[in-house]
Amino acid sequence: MKYHPIDPKLFIKNRKNFMAKMKPSSLAVFNSNDIFTTGADSTMPFKQHRDIFYLSGADQENTILVLFPDSPDPAHREVLFVTETNEHIAIWEGEKLTKERATEVSGIKTVYWLNDFDKKFFEMMTQCDTIYFNTNEHYRQAVEMESREDRFIKKTKAQYPAHNYAKSAPILQRLRAVKDQIEIDLLQQACDITNTGFRRVLEFTKPGVMEFDLEAEFLHEFIRRRSDGFAYTPIIASGNNANVLHYIENNQECKDGDLILIDAGAQYANYASDMSRTIPVNGRYTDRQKDVYNAVLRVKNEATKMLVPGTLWKEYHVEVGKIMTSELIGLGLLDKTDVQNENPDWPAYKKYFMHGTSHHMGLDTHDYGILWEPMQAGNVFTVEPGIYLPEEGFGIRLEDDVVINSSGEPFNLMRDIPIEIEEIEDLMNK
Ligand code: GLY
Ligand code: MN
Ligand code: MN
Repeated sequence: MKYHPIDPKLFIKNRKNFMAKMKPSSLAVFNSNDIFTTGADSTMPFKQHRDIFYLSGADQENTILVLFPDSPDPAHREVLFVTETNEHIAIWEGEKLTKERATEVSGIKTVYWLNDFDKKFFEMMTQCDTIYFNTNEHYRQAVEMESREDRFIKKTKAQYPAHNYAKSAPILQRLRAVKDQIEIDLLQQACDITNTGFRRVLEFTKPGVMEFDLEAEFLHEFIRRRSDGFAYTPIIASGNNANVLHYIENNQECKDGDLILIDAGAQYANYASDMSRTIPVNGRYTDRQKDVYNAVLRVKNEATKMLVPGTLWKEYHVEVGKIMTSELIGLGLLDKTDVQNENPDWPAYKKYFMHGTSHHMGLDTHDYGILWEPMQAGNVFTVEPGIYLPEEGFGIRLEDDVVINSSGEPFNLMRDIPIEIEEIEDLMNK
């Protein structure tokens, strides 16, 4: 891991909060992710499952966490299972969690080797009535692959058919949506790394560079600042590529007069950042580009003001739609008749701004959070309006990450990342 150690107080508190929501006589199990194979003996880099990380800080494969608050054995209220390490493994694979180190990282006193799992787990299962399974209930999930968690659930249901089953997801969705100050500091670090990457790109960009050159500039800056790399596959979309919303080829030349829509963010200590900026290839925006850019920026600033406790995500989107509609009329892209005749299920503004304005952000870029419950202090949201104009050969999106405060405007984690036209032009023409 490149990141600095995290204060285990975070994980201790997260477990305490989770256990406070569990039913009597129950235990909950959380599995790490698999290491994904790419063929032969090759694998993808390991990415920890965010839930076991959130509850333990353990950032290693083949790890299982069991929470059993009513355990008759106090040593079994929190148990972490990790792969047995030894000198031979250390020589071939490098340092892995020892029992002592696992305790330091997580604050969990009882650490067993994974080989002992079946025996210990049987004992604990005979002492409880309900088991919480960690099914993936994210509102955007569309995963076909069977995870280690899925395999565990299948096997456990077969072995323990008389237990009651419960879901961890609703508890985690609510807990993870409200960030602790330690998490906000980690998100700030991720955003600060993104800032340095973006400033490097501003200095680097000129007509003739390739989109992947910009991607490489970001990555260089991210890695040397202890980031694990991009939080998600970056979009570096020049000219009309910006109008393909999920463009990730990043293989075209950036041409004089075009804009580049950049949607890229660093990950730090498994925490994401999610930034969009749109910059001119030659360092100067045209008047038309400026007009559209400033319209998007005004929508972003107005939308941000609505991210306060009590706001409902759905109603917020309706309000942002109204602001966008008036900007599009101002730009001559819509007229009043378009709006009068619009389909309420797909309002006229959607022709130019067809995606959502905000999503929760945290350990996952599209983080947990229950969208039909009112916003609350500690939620972290993106704000990311855009206007996409294929007929004019450009698209603009601006995206910041903000923390909802108990009162007043949200705190912008990306306040230091250049966004005003003058600042971007100055930095590109230094
Ligand atoms: N970069 C993904 C998103 O903006 O939602
Ligand atoms: Mn984004
Ligand atoms: Mn986003």
